[in-house]
Amino acid sequence: MGDGEAIKIGLLGRGTVGGAFALLVEQRADAIARLTGKRPSIGGVLTSSTGDFDQILEDSDVIVELIGGLDPARDYVLRALKAGKPVISANKALVSTHGAELFAASAESGAPLFFEAAVAGVIPAIRVIEESLAGAHVERVHGIVNGTTNYILTEMANSGLSYDEALKQAQDLGYAEADPTADVGGGDAAAKMAILARLAFGLDVSFDQVVFEGIENITSEDIAYAREFDLVLKLVGTAERINGGISVRVFPAFLYPSHPLASVHGSFNAVTVESPAITEITMSGPGAGGVQTASAVLGDLVSILSGVPRTRGEAAPATIVDDVKSAFYLHLEVEDRPGVLAEVAAALGNHDVSVRNFNQQGTPDAARLVMVMHPTLESNFFAAVAEIAALPFVGAAPRAIRVIEEEFGS
Ligand code: HSE
Repeated sequence: MGDGEAIKIGLLGRGTVGGAFALLVEQRADAIARLTGKRPSIGGVLTSSTGDFDQILEDSDVIVELIGGLDPARDYVLRALKAGKPVISANKALVSTHGAELFAASAESGAPLFFEAAVAGVIPAIRVIEESLAGAHVERVHGIVNGTTNYILTEMANSGLSYDEALKQAQDLGYAEADPTADVGGGDAAAKMAILARLAFGLDVSFDQVVFEGIENITSEDIAYAREFDLVLKLVGTAERINGGISVRVFPAFLYPSHPLASVHGSFNAVTVESPAITEITMSGPGAGGVQTASAVLGDLVSILSGVPRTRGEAAPATIVDDVKSAFYLHLEVEDRPGVLAEVAAALGNHDVSVRNFNQQGTPDAARLVMVMHPTLESNFFAAVAEIAALPFVGAAPRAIRVIEEEFGS
């Protein structure tokens, strides 16, 4: 039982994930000792009220940062790396905001930095991108990387709950961050997409380069009307190469049922990686939760104890492409009289926007026009929508939601 070189872990933060991790280390110590010849145990623990960081750093062989947020996590992680201690972090805000600085410190001292748990919980997206697909030229990564919003959208679609009711349920189940604004506003997903983009493209991508929008304005009607076209609504992160640059963005988007992300329901996350060499692969699983996230942290620990290298060279700056091509769903409430459709079509045509599918339904005193466009430059589409919104027969403000057109395996 006592076999294996003793490895002391300095644990920063003992919340839901930290507590679960401490328990897992104890439960899995024998298995890890057999696998790596090293037996980990928790040495010092730092919480907001107990422990001394300097002492813990000195006494530990590996630092595990599960505090979250930028400060003081940034200072602790940098100091550990500079002291040559391997670091594991689950902190998406930290890695997506200060990645370049952390990687430089890691490269300089040679101390590896692992953060599998920062993106999509226990799904090994980072390991797959950095190891298994190291030889592939990744063209695009799509992700459902926020469990709270996926749960809300699933409940709105399947149980007919309102947005507020579904959010309350997600909070009660513990999926949401302490402040759910980052979840429903898209910021949490944007941080995770920045990290995936950095690793997939080998470029210096940070959180402030990600364009994002959340799901706060989505209504049950949007989801219901889009069923006419067999569309499923998800909060989708996209990181892709475009004309020598890249675009990283997070938006609510409709998917066709045969897209691999369309069948990812509830609080599950999924990441799809596309490359000419591999077509596409999709990984899915729990994206949050104490023991699930702790399992990803433990996986990183095993990698460190096994000597897997994880220092990264300096990355070139990313060139961000602002205006991308997207397909859109458009919902209009209009007066039902001759010439209306012609004027709407003319406004779309004026801006080079082409309709793929169209449906009109009569309401007691008006008509509801719902259409899906072919992909077009977003600037063109929004110019057309502004022109349509100003037409005298248009009632409520037009509703536009992106559509992801790709279908795989169909
Ligand atoms: N609040 C996050 C989510 C937890 O809903 O996915 C994991 O980062």
